[in-house]
Amino acid sequence: MSIPRESSRRPIVVIDGPAGAGKSSVAREVARRLGLPMLDTGALYRSVALAARRRGIAWDDEAALARLAEGLDVRFEPTADGGRRVLLEGDDVTEAIRTPEISDGASQVSALPGVRRALLDLQRDLGSRGCVAEGRDMGTVVFPDADVKFFLTADLATRARRRRDQLEADGRAAPPLEELEASIARRDERDANRAVAPLRPAPDAIVLDTSRAGFEEVVQQVMAHIAQCCPGLVGVSDAGA
Ligand code: DC
Repeated sequence: MSIPRESSRRPIVVIDGPAGAGKSSVAREVARRLGLPMLDTGALYRSVALAARRRGIAWDDEAALARLAEGLDVRFEPTADGGRRVLLEGDDVTEAIRTPEISDGASQVSALPGVRRALLDLQRDLGSRGCVAEGRDMGTVVFPDADVKFFLTADLATRARRRRDQLEADGRAAPPLEELEASIARRDERDANRAVAPLRPAPDAIVLDTSRAGFEEVVQQVMAHIAQCCPGLVGVSDAGA
């Protein structure tokens, strides 16, 4: 896992882990510090679930979902405030793909091998110019030769609390904590036990438990590991910035 300086291949950092472990916010910040685009692969599965719902395709109709995923027109567009919009067929679905219903749909469609296969090339293509890729199987399947691999995890109660805080920060009504825990546990179970690309750390991934670490601390740990194994990737000023 070291990046040859003369390599012409663009650097790829992957961050996998279960829902609520802090992957998205950490990946976004690490991408910013490294000057690389962030690739949110969960947004692709969410977009498949939403597109299916809009077209009346059931979330277990593998053949139709695989066709849908193959022709999926999803784009990520930076916003003026440093954020990012997700466009599905040109329509801004940034909010629409984050509802609890679509979260559940994304978990269902992502268990289908045909859907995963159909999204493989799209993910590699989107990451081909270098990226910080965030998902469940980035290190094991999509980018097995990534320069650095992280697997972020946290206990269930912490992840449910973070999800609630996130919903509240977004101005959305949060279900009771026990309900959030149950729904995260259900998704964990499905994500970890599916036949194809189950959620698990790559053998060469650095596993970080974020239960008792603050956001900045986790970002620092990730940056420190990157600085150690890929010094070419991190400028001196980036390491703690
Ligand atoms: O990271 P997220 O919550 O946005 O992901 C939505 C769903 O998609 C989640 O249930 C797991 C699945 N997923 C996946 O199977 N593989 C990925 N690389 C990313 C997400």
